[in-house]
Amino acid sequence: MPVIVLVGAQWGDEGKGKATDLLGDRLDYVVKFNGGNNAGHTVVIEGEKYALHLLPSGILSPGVVPVIGNGVVIDLNVLFQEIDGLESRGIDTSRLRISANAHVIPSYNRSLDKVSERYLGARRIGTTGRGIGPTYADKMNRVGVRVQDLFDESILRQKVEAALSFKNQILAKIYNRQAVKPDDVVNELLSYVERLRPYVGDTALELSEALDAGKVVLCEAGQATLLDVDHGTYPFVTSSNATAGGACTGSGIPPTRIDRVVAVLKAFTSRVGEGPFPTELHDKFGDHLREVGQEYGTTTGRPRRIGWLDLVMARYAQRINGVTDFVLTKLDNYDDLDEIPVCVAYEVNGVRHDEMPISQSDFHHAVPIFETMPGWKQSIMGARSFDDLPKEAQDFVVFVEERIRARISVVGVGPARDQVIERHSVLSGA
Ligand code: GDP
Ligand code: IMO
Ligand code: MG
Repeated sequence: MPVIVLVGAQWGDEGKGKATDLLGDRLDYVVKFNGGNNAGHTVVIEGEKYALHLLPSGILSPGVVPVIGNGVVIDLNVLFQEIDGLESRGIDTSRLRISANAHVIPSYNRSLDKVSERYLGARRIGTTGRGIGPTYADKMNRVGVRVQDLFDESILRQKVEAALSFKNQILAKIYNRQAVKPDDVVNELLSYVERLRPYVGDTALELSEALDAGKVVLCEAGQATLLDVDHGTYPFVTSSNATAGGACTGSGIPPTRIDRVVAVLKAFTSRVGEGPFPTELHDKFGDHLREVGQEYGTTTGRPRRIGWLDLVMARYAQRINGVTDFVLTKLDNYDDLDEIPVCVAYEVNGVRHDEMPISQSDFHHAVPIFETMPGWKQSIMGARSFDDLPKEAQDFVVFVEERIRARISVVGVGPARDQVIERHSVLSGA
């Protein structure tokens, strides 16, 4: 004990990587429990920038054992590229553990992700094209390939042949692509086996034993609440459970062992890909926040869509995840603004909604109701305690906190590791 779950409160890119890194020296294990290399976390340590996709952000903390849980989908080529990239910069990756039950992303699922998006045309999701959706679909359809399958060549061959027997029909007959040869897929996957072997184990058992020994475990979500396949803005979501419940199924840690749930909330909102976005900005304020916040995708480089902070969403995230503590990031990105509108409710067809509307079409038509807070018009990047913040910035934090049903324990005032204000301990609840 204890287990802390860390999730994103919006549509991703809230600063989860930085929040995990901040806690790094107080943790023993960091578990990635969902998603794959659709995620992109930027962590800045002593002026050095690290972009992580598949590896848990805890890999950057020397005392932490990073774990890729069973709920993750792994592109093995990306995994080893990322390991090699970190090793060449002097980061030790030898502690990494990988669940034998995690699924791998075969190359045909990357192809299917891309062609199906093209086929959808105007109805596309705007995926990252990394094969995430097709691989989770295979998992549910029980035709996926798991990490453990790579260690038994004949089983691997059977599974790949079974999957390709119908996928090749889809590739050829629907999408007019060349069929994929099972041998090519098997040989590519087998080429990783010896490198993979030392990392693979029963990570659910290892985590259970670690908890019995009193270790501190953080389960780190990829993506975020509104991208969750059950609780997000379906169908404009990813294909996994990015909310706190996913931490149990995606790691094998039971719900009774979870003590705290931390949600990372960006002081404004961003979204990559398609889908509804009530507070979206199409004006100079959106452009300004994109530039000061460097809001370009860590994974695909796409400019992120930008909008004002949406407290209806934040309250929803609190409720769905059972958030005990919020980390409010990028408050410094408001330093130049005269005033800051914050969405406190929606209006849909003349009716006020204080909670997320139940239907997607209502959410599509939601018009934000704003309250406006005064700006502080000075840099807060040097603030290290709440008292260092100008009165207007303090008022902003308190205003948000009073409306999201959980305390704001940490405030981010810059990208660097030390650019934070810690008001409360997210680990102990003190
Ligand atoms: P993640 O996917 O949730 O880990 O977030 P990303 O790394 O994709 O995007 C968050 C970006 O914001 C990164 O470039 C971080 O370095 C940066 N960042 C995080 N917290 C802060 C903060 O408090 N202030 C500023 N200015 N940048 C931050
Ligand atoms: P992090 O962990 C922001 C979005 C994609 C697309 C949708 C589905 O960095 O917060 P997928 O490839 O997952 O099938 O795409 O989800 N998406 C993200 N947006 N941050 C992410 O991760 C994302 N991972 C997926 O843009 O709209
Ligand atoms: Mg990101």
